[in-house]
Amino acid sequence: MSEYPLMRLRRSRKSDWSRRLVRETVLTVDDLIWTIVISDSGKAREAVPSMPGVERLSIAQAVLAAKQAEALGIPAIALFPHVSPGLKTADGAEALNADGLVPNTVRAIKVATSNLGVIVDVALDPFTDHGHDGIMDGERIDNDSTVERLAQAALVLAEAGADVVAPSDMMDGRVGAIRAALEDAGHQDVQIMSYAAKYASGFYGPYRDAIGTSAALTGDKRTYQMDPGNTDEAIREVALDIAEGADMIMVKPGMPYLDIIARLKDEFAMPTFAFQVSGEYAIIMAAAQNGWIDERRVILESLMSFKRAGCDGVLTYFAPRAAQWLAE
Ligand code: PBG
Repeated sequence: MSEYPLMRLRRSRKSDWSRRLVRETVLTVDDLIWTIVISDSGKAREAVPSMPGVERLSIAQAVLAAKQAEALGIPAIALFPHVSPGLKTADGAEALNADGLVPNTVRAIKVATSNLGVIVDVALDPFTDHGHDGIMDGERIDNDSTVERLAQAALVLAEAGADVVAPSDMMDGRVGAIRAALEDAGHQDVQIMSYAAKYASGFYGPYRDAIGTSAALTGDKRTYQMDPGNTDEAIREVALDIAEGADMIMVKPGMPYLDIIARLKDEFAMPTFAFQVSGEYAIIMAAAQNGWIDERRVILESLMSFKRAGCDGVLTYFAPRAAQWLAE
C-alpha cells in the first residue's frame, strides 16, 4: 500500500456515490428476523413498559403482524409467548400442549401467509412457574429430563407447521435429541436454529417482563447459560450443535458479543445469526426517547454492526421499522 500523500483514504469518502461504491457491507431487509411477543391474555395488544414500542399481541394481531412482515419482505418472524400464570407449572407441561398459544398462532400465521418463515423458541421458561428453562431437581436444573421434554415440545411445534425450531435453553444434547425426534416423526425438513452461544446475560431483563417470568425467577441462569468471560467455550458449544444437526447457529446477546460472532463465522462458515435482545432494544429506545441519540441512525448502525461482524441475519424487535427505512 502506498503512503500519504500518495494514498489519501478520504478521497473515496468524498461523496455519497463513492461511499456507496466502496461500501463493503450492506444491510438489507433479507437480514431481518422480527421477534414478536404473543399473549393469551384476551387483549388485542398490551404494551411492555420496559420495551417502548413493543406490544404483546393476540393471535389475530400476530397474524396481522405476520402479513405486515411478509408485505415488507422480512423473510421470517420469531414468536415468544406470554401465557397466563394459571398455565405455568413446575414441569412446564403447557409447552407440550398442541392446542396451546404458540401452536395455534403458528397454524393461524401459516394459513394467512405464503412466503414467511416461522421460527419458534423451544423453551420451557414461558411455561414454568419458577421461570427456569428446565425441570428442577431441588436447586438444580436437571439436564436430561429437560432435554426429553424439549424434544417433545419441538415435535408439537413442528406438527403445528413451524419452519424453524430454535432451542434457547443451553442444555447439553438438546439439538441432537430434537433432531432425532424430528427425523423419527418425518419432519426432516424442519430447520434447527440453535441458540448455540447464549450467555448468562443481564440484557434479557425486559424480555422476562415481556413474557412474565421476571417475578417468579429465583436465582439466575448461570448453571446453564454461558459465562460472559468465555470465547473458546463458544467454539465447543457450536461444534457440538453442528455435529448434532443444527442448520443455523445464533449468538445471544448481540452487540456485547460481536467478537464471538466474528470468531464463530470464521471458524465454522455456518449460517450465523445474532439476537439483538430486549435489553439492547431498551437501551436504544430509552436514549432515543430522551432525545440523546438519533433513533433511526443508531438502530440501522447497530444492525449493520452485526452484518459487519459476519452475521447472515439478526433477530430484532426493530425489524419492521428497519425494513420500512431500508425501503425508503
Ligand atoms: C429463554 C429466552 C430468553 C430470551 C429468549 N428466550 C431469556 C432468558 O434466557 O431468560 C431473551 C430474549 C430477549 O431478551 O429479547 N428461553
